[in-house]
Amino acid sequence: MAEQLAIRGGSPAIPPGTIKPWPPTDDADRQMVLASLNGDNHAFGPNCDAFQEEFAAWNGNRHALTTNSGTAALHMSLAAADCGCGDEVIVPAYSWSSSATCVMQHNAIPVFADIDFDTMNIDPDRIEAAITPKTRALIAVHLHGLPADMDRIMAIADHHGLKVIEDACQAHGARLDGRKVGLLGHCAAFSFNQNKCLCSGEGGMFVTDDPDMLRKAQSLWSFGESGPPSAARDYHVYAMGWMYRNNDLSAAWGRAQLRKLDHYLELQKQNAACLSAHLQGVPALLLPTAPPGYDHNWYNYTIRFDMEALGHAHDARAFRDKLVRALQAEGLETGVWQSFILPAMTVFQARNGYGHGCPWSCPHAQPVDYSLDRFPAATRHVESHTGLTTPLRAPNGPNVAELAAAAIRKVMTNLGQVEDLPD
Ligand SMILES: Cc1ncc(COP(=O)(O)O)c(C=O)c1O
Repeated sequence: MAEQLAIRGGSPAIPPGTIKPWPPTDDADRQMVLASLNGDNHAFGPNCDAFQEEFAAWNGNRHALTTNSGTAALHMSLAAADCGCGDEVIVPAYSWSSSATCVMQHNAIPVFADIDFDTMNIDPDRIEAAITPKTRALIAVHLHGLPADMDRIMAIADHHGLKVIEDACQAHGARLDGRKVGLLGHCAAFSFNQNKCLCSGEGGMFVTDDPDMLRKAQSLWSFGESGPPSAARDYHVYAMGWMYRNNDLSAAWGRAQLRKLDHYLELQKQNAACLSAHLQGVPALLLPTAPPGYDHNWYNYTIRFDMEALGHAHDARAFRDKLVRALQAEGLETGVWQSFILPAMTVFQARNGYGHGCPWSCPHAQPVDYSLDRFPAATRHVESHTGLTTPLRAPNGPNVAELAAAAIRKVMTNLGQVEDLPD
């Protein structure tokens, strides 16, 4: 007899309270944060300096500047890459919003390239076609922790004289042929927001090996004053700047979490391998892949439903939403990470960031095409995916991954109970 799905009144596959929240905290975190609190420098304090040094050492970068978000580090990357008014920057059509809004923040124009459906990362074949005489840089997002195809991307960039900004906000510790992300392009941005693999509440890091790019990024970071806040200040604004500095409490927590990061990433990898093993053979499910040489950090374990096989190609989004509700009822923490492709978002369709159509109306800019039919892979992905983060994170272990697989298998083998759920 068919098992009754929890959404139909059956018992959930994952009992309440099984999945533990992220991130785990312990006495080491509390000691670091309390020491900062008991100190007397709560703005850009000694923990910020130490966090920069320790993160740069952990990742292998020469230079690091800690910021109050990954978005800030991305915006600083645009300045580091010499992008300006009317310049074009190539961005994948599917990512977090700020992978593209950072371009507009710097008065430059995002030009979208479709993703490769299998890897979910920017499709290098689409990059060449997006390059124009105005192109200055491209943003390679290592989406969900899988490195983008950096060998091909760097070859294209070198050929056209473009700078490559890595959006490594989700990809701490991911590697390509043994080389860590953040070392593969010209500069990179990491995020330490709550659900990232390294969490300090909020926060970020700009990294580069190029002292000139560091200097340019720094010009935005602290009010447009060029020196670091630890140096004697003359309160003179040399360039247009923002306030993107980190603070001592967040940096203290980030330092404590950094000491545990390798352990967390190893557990995450084991959990993802366990989940993949238990999901083999589930009908109509497309599992995430890491091509040979790609070391995924499994920030987000994203599955896609094969809507053709399910007979739901015509109403993919609505049916996916029913599947997600059925999974959630089984006690699985899963969700739709981004339900719009980037070019579909209102700010881009309206081509209006700063009012009066700026930056698109800038006399230095040229028209760009945001027609949505140019992004079929990103559109197919956005309508058919759901992803898991917390269930694969420490302190959850393979027992949770097995339960997650059981929940997914249960729903996917009882589809008759999902078909006629109300929209
Ligand atoms: C791919 C990607 N880029 C950029 C960001 C922005 O990071 P933050 O939230 O720290 O500004 C995020 C985080 O949400 C992200 O997932």
